[in-house]
Amino acid sequence: MKLWGGRFSGKMDPAAWDLNSSLAFDRRLALQDVRGSLSWAQALEQAGALTEDECAQIFTGLQAILSEFEQGHFLFLESDEDIHTAVERRLGELMGPVAGKLHTGRSRNDQVATDLRLWVMDHLPLLDAALANLQAALIERAEADFELLMPGYTHLQRAQVILLSHWWLSHFWPLQRDRQRLKQALQRTASLPLGCGALAGTPYPIDRLALAEALSFSEPASNSLDAVSERDFVLEILFCSALVGVHLSKLAEAIVLFTSLEFGFLELSDAYATGSSLMPQKKNPDVFELARGKSGALVGWLTGLLVTMKGLPSTYDKDLQEDKTPLFNAIDTLNTLLPVLAGALRSLRVHPERMRAAIDSTMMATDLADYLVEKGLPFRQAHALAGQAVQLSLKQGKPLESLTLEEFQALGEEFGPITFDAEVYQVFDPARSALRRSAIGGTAPQAVHEQIQQAKKAV
Ligand code: ARG
Repeated sequence: MKLWGGRFSGKMDPAAWDLNSSLAFDRRLALQDVRGSLSWAQALEQAGALTEDECAQIFTGLQAILSEFEQGHFLFLESDEDIHTAVERRLGELMGPVAGKLHTGRSRNDQVATDLRLWVMDHLPLLDAALANLQAALIERAEADFELLMPGYTHLQRAQVILLSHWWLSHFWPLQRDRQRLKQALQRTASLPLGCGALAGTPYPIDRLALAEALSFSEPASNSLDAVSERDFVLEILFCSALVGVHLSKLAEAIVLFTSLEFGFLELSDAYATGSSLMPQKKNPDVFELARGKSGALVGWLTGLLVTMKGLPSTYDKDLQEDKTPLFNAIDTLNTLLPVLAGALRSLRVHPERMRAAIDSTMMATDLADYLVEKGLPFRQAHALAGQAVQLSLKQGKPLESLTLEEFQALGEEFGPITFDAEVYQVFDPARSALRRSAIGGTAPQAVHEQIQQAKKAV
């Protein structure tokens, strides 16, 4: 049964049929399709286009189809062009000719746009929960590793001392913004296309406000042409997914580095590591490499659909059928990745002594400059003086904190009456360095403690 066979007498080429058919991927819209049809039948009855009895029969049939889907008994046929055709075909088998009345005033154009929006509305809460779970894992790490010091990097060069806790939370906040973006995208998704017909609207007196409410949409779409043809809601979700992918990739790259022997800050649990078929000693971070690698496809699905959408003549074009696979792929990918990453983070072992050993006193050169600022030197000069101290320590091949007081004082003479005193050696204490950065958002334990509370409140 073709939904559009009437004006044709020839048979469709089988390969062209396969190309045209979307059942292989849009069968995932089955539950949404039936739900949309249940509400549409009701709207038709209210509009006087179906009798009470016809509506009841259609309801019975659709409910039976729903339970076939839920129990996995629904039989698809080769001849089902897409999920909408399959449902209508089955309704006819179950209920007879009354099934043919369901499509009154409706097109697959407003139907598929509705189904896909419903699918997004059903699935975004699950993605949100998976993101929240990863955030919870980061908070747990921040609490468990509280006060452990590590080197903070810029340009992948040792820069300043930070708290490992602070670093974990630096990966929490991007995910928080991702969740906010998804939530906003969801609000814009909840605009109902059903009742817009093929493109120009429906000629039946459908109460679209009631229809929107019945399907848990916040409003009926205001323009039928826009409603059947725009897929910006999918693009927004693909963008959010791509950005989540980029955030996960950044985190993953850091874990790959930090679990290498060169760093040795972190150690993977066996549950989340893999070995080599050749090199017996290997313990590989495949899970994190896959997180990093999958960001490529996540960005690609966004790019692909953006290009598909560009320059389409209004309104519905079959190009729009290409909106589903990237959306499903993106959501599936994140739902696969996120729980694994959360588990892997929770089970990581930290080696505080390795992180401590990677902190050398030159990382406190800024603190040395700040010490000189407290002595009255303008920061620019203090920066230059501390830089010369670093140069001297490198020249002498000894750590910065091993310069003698006389050596410090000799450097200071150039800059006027700057008197170094024995207190200068305090600046080389890494814990002190962290402690001093206590303004909101800084790495001091008190500030990080407050940040943890804030993060907990946010999730
Ligand atoms: N399978 C189609 C899609 O996903 C359904 C809409 C078909 N509409 C049409 N005018 N051929 O876009």
